[in-house]
Amino acid sequence: MTHPIQSYHRKRNIPMGFFQFFLLLFSIIILIIKNSDQSNQPKRVCYLLAEKPEHLIPIDQLKFKLCTDWIFSFAHLNGYNVTISPLMDDYIRKVMSSSTTTTTNKTNVEQNFLISIGTGDMSFVDNPKDIEKFIDSIIQLMDRFSLDGFDLDWEFPEQRKHQFTRLLRMIRYRFQHKLNNHGKQYLLSVALSPNIYIVETSYDIRSIGHLVDFVNLMTYDFHSPNTFPYTNFNSPLYANRLDKLYFEYFNVNFAVNYMLQLGLQRQKLMVGIPFYGYKYFLVNQKFHNLYALSNGTEVSVAFNEICGREFLADPNTTKIFDPNSKVPYAYRNFEWITYDDYESITIKAQWIMDNHLGGSMTFPLNYDDYDNQKCKTNRNYPLQSILYDIIN
Ligand SMILES: *[C@@H]1O[C@H](CO)[C@@H](O)[C@H](O)[C@H]1NC(C)=O
Ligand SMILES: *[C@@H]1O[C@H](CO)[C@@H](O)[C@H](O)[C@H]1NC(C)=O
Ligand SMILES: *[C@@H]1O[C@H](CO)[C@@H](O)[C@H](O)[C@H]1NC(C)=O
Ligand SMILES: *[C@@H]1O[C@H](CO)[C@@H](O)[C@H](O)[C@H]1NC(C)=O
Repeated sequence: MTHPIQSYHRKRNIPMGFFQFFLLLFSIIILIIKNSDQSNQPKRVCYLLAEKPEHLIPIDQLKFKLCTDWIFSFAHLNGYNVTISPLMDDYIRKVMSSSTTTTTNKTNVEQNFLISIGTGDMSFVDNPKDIEKFIDSIIQLMDRFSLDGFDLDWEFPEQRKHQFTRLLRMIRYRFQHKLNNHGKQYLLSVALSPNIYIVETSYDIRSIGHLVDFVNLMTYDFHSPNTFPYTNFNSPLYANRLDKLYFEYFNVNFAVNYMLQLGLQRQKLMVGIPFYGYKYFLVNQKFHNLYALSNGTEVSVAFNEICGREFLADPNTTKIFDPNSKVPYAYRNFEWITYDDYESITIKAQWIMDNHLGGSMTFPLNYDDYDNQKCKTNRNYPLQSILYDIIN
């Protein structure tokens, strides 16, 4: 570092003190920026469904570099004990042994593997003794597979804000006092609803932000056929021009800014990107724009089920990209589908980077076209690959 300064000084014959001071200051700033960059490397968190045989991505199709943090989902609660099915047990074992053999050729990014519990009967949270047993059971489960951390997906602690924070505080306390099999501290993340009404009744955001390593904000399910039977988007980036009153709150941009206002640290916020959408059934197929009446039946659709000839690539399907909400919809006869595609995910990923947020959260990776058999894009994982390209 000193060599270039000296030679520069000799050539130009300018007072040394000034230049040394200036260049030293400059290099220190560069160093600080570089270091903070390394610790705040954006994440690509991916939920990996591992409960049902039809969901499993074959082990040889997994591409570990695509995600920085992998969350096996979901474990279940039996009282205060966390349990998983034999199928999931077997799958996690295989993934973990495959990940250690395939990442020996270091892709300079290290992967973390976490396990999530979905909602169950959370009544144990009222009893601190039971909470301790719950934490024992999480630690046992993580150690069984040499996992790096735990994700809590409690949907939702309505009116139990205080219990939720206490639960996280007790988990964090235990995690601070025990290292995992890799000699590191266990990671703790939570999945949170972006819905302003749930946030108000369920979360003390500022405390949660300090207790967890990152937050997986579930910025989807903003609209679905059986909550409100008028067509609208699963995961709009922005409100559209017809959204009025409280509908203006139901989009990614509002939810993320609301979380930041409540005191969540920017770099801990992972923005949820759904690899699924919803199908509505139009009551009158002549009315197929936003806020068209549907019959209220809800069908959720995986991206890899709709991307091919069965729907999006059918010449009879009309696709529209909404210029305000920055997401597409598509319709055919009575069917109307809200989903995310290559374009909307590109825009969201860029938006995450432009806003210096923590990264993306994919739900779930299983619904991408991982083997290029469904969408015929000549690329495995066409959706997650976009996040890989932009979020890093
Ligand atoms: C929880 O697991 C422990 C150890 O496996 C067992 O002894 C206990 O009975 C279980 N408790 C419940 C409520 O299932
Ligand atoms: C590992 O890296 C070496 C050197 O870069 C390369 O020759 C080899 O093919 C790589 N192996 C795998 C499995 O990617
Ligand atoms: C809505 O339409 C679909 C397709 O025709 C049908 O399967 C479903 O039963 C209908 N739902 C109601 C509530 O009528
Ligand atoms: C498209 O719709 C027309 C008219 O309903 C129908 O005759 C045709 O078979 C449809 N094409 C496909 C590919 O489904």
